[in-house]
Amino acid sequence: TTIAPFKNEPFTDFTQEDNKKAMQEALAKVKQELGKEYPLHIGADKVTTEDKIVSINPGNIDQVIGRVSKATQELAERAIQTALSTFETWKRVPSRERAEYLLKAAELMRQRKHEFSAWMILESGKNWAEADADTAEAIDFMEFYAREAIRLSETNTHQPLTKLDGEDNRLTYIPLGVGVVIPPWNFPLAICAGMATAAVVSGNTVLVKPASTTPVIAHKFVALMEEVGLPAGVINYIPGSGAEVGDYLTTHPKTRFVSFTGSKEIGLRINRLAAETAEGQIWIKRVIAEMGGKDGIVVDETADLDAAAAAITASAFGFQGQKCSAGSRAVIVESVYDEIVEKVAELTKKLEIGLQDENYAAGPVIDENSYNKILEYIEIGKKEGRLVTGGGKAEGNGYYIQPTVFADVDGKARVMQEEIFGPVLAIAKAKDWKEAIAMYNDTEFGLTGAFFSKDESRIETALQDMHCGNLYINRKCTGALVGVHPFGGFNMSGTDSKAGGYDYLLLFTQAKLTSRKL
Ligand code: SER
Repeated sequence: TTIAPFKNEPFTDFTQEDNKKAMQEALAKVKQELGKEYPLHIGADKVTTEDKIVSINPGNIDQVIGRVSKATQELAERAIQTALSTFETWKRVPSRERAEYLLKAAELMRQRKHEFSAWMILESGKNWAEADADTAEAIDFMEFYAREAIRLSETNTHQPLTKLDGEDNRLTYIPLGVGVVIPPWNFPLAICAGMATAAVVSGNTVLVKPASTTPVIAHKFVALMEEVGLPAGVINYIPGSGAEVGDYLTTHPKTRFVSFTGSKEIGLRINRLAAETAEGQIWIKRVIAEMGGKDGIVVDETADLDAAAAAITASAFGFQGQKCSAGSRAVIVESVYDEIVEKVAELTKKLEIGLQDENYAAGPVIDENSYNKILEYIEIGKKEGRLVTGGGKAEGNGYYIQPTVFADVDGKARVMQEEIFGPVLAIAKAKDWKEAIAMYNDTEFGLTGAFFSKDESRIETALQDMHCGNLYINRKCTGALVGVHPFGGFNMSGTDSKAGGYDYLLLFTQAKLTSRKL
């Protein structure tokens, strides 16, 4: 059978009564299932440990989402050995067959879409639309990488070779081995599923170490892969502390690659640890690291100011600014500066704060550490700029912070340079569009950016000069779509791995050239 061309999973319109009802039902169902225990998955074994990660709802901190067993180094070692032996059989399974597991999982996830979203709403603090987009992206990743694995397995399709008479030459992409997959909590389903399935559809076996704040939704994904019949040991589920289990796996001689999405600090640490050669190690480990951003939107005086203000607000405050793609900076040219600041302030004040299961626009941030760190940055912002709106904690039995806007901030200010990963926007003034672009580029990061203008020649210049992996014109800088906007950034934003693009699976494979005399 042929597989239909890839198409993005549509987002749900929750203004429609039936969709709204379906989500409310899913939330009610998931609430019945809160507080359960989840074991590790090591091969076919379900391992329960004494020590648990207790996952809570960040918007209602007395609500326990689940209690998740926590790996020790010994269990991590057992998982590595299991993944190693499984690799010997899994690497021989034809790509098409491997892809079928992803397609089946995508289909089941589509059927239970709101249920997956409901888990995320409660465990990560996403509102409905944010959770729905996350689930849609998880489906997209599986559909996309399934097709990519098949394409990559077709002889000489990816890279046609120059013909030489008398020889049959082929380039094939073979898997690497055992990988450690460390997904983030901010796209706890999409990025977890994307990173894990890209690796396994390419023929690798993996150990998934979920983020400690969102291990339950990660378990739901692992259980789904088990349900569709993915052989035991291909995806192993190993929650645990970064310091204990993360470092152990990263430095292990049998680890072939580490696929990480998260903060710059942890990404750089993984890169450094993985660069050391352990005793008995016979390869250079590959590190795929998608890290932070200090993304920004530049607006010139020709721009549609309402559209620009809406994009700035959406990019800054979607999922409380907890996206590596979040537009946490805006640089506005002088002549329209006051007007934009005012419009952004107005839109920001309209964001109602409250429980995410009741679908408030602004929910909680992920945990106490983030909460404290963001509040500290807000205090720094008060010294570095003019507080326009927000500026502190918000009501609720969780980690609620007011969407906060600072204006008149210097380009070198900390709130313009450091990733806050929270609902804090810093706005700076530039004398003209050229200076605005230069200020945009004055960062160690390079993930996303946007330029608002109606001037064709300026847009041409912006397209060339704004240095980031995902550059958008006259639209927001978040919300990359699989297959449409391959996603990944420059400089301290990571290895530019372009998730959701044609190049991504190459990161989990090595090319083997075979030349046969005819
Ligand atoms: N891909 C997401 C976005 O574009 C971030 O991870 O917003």
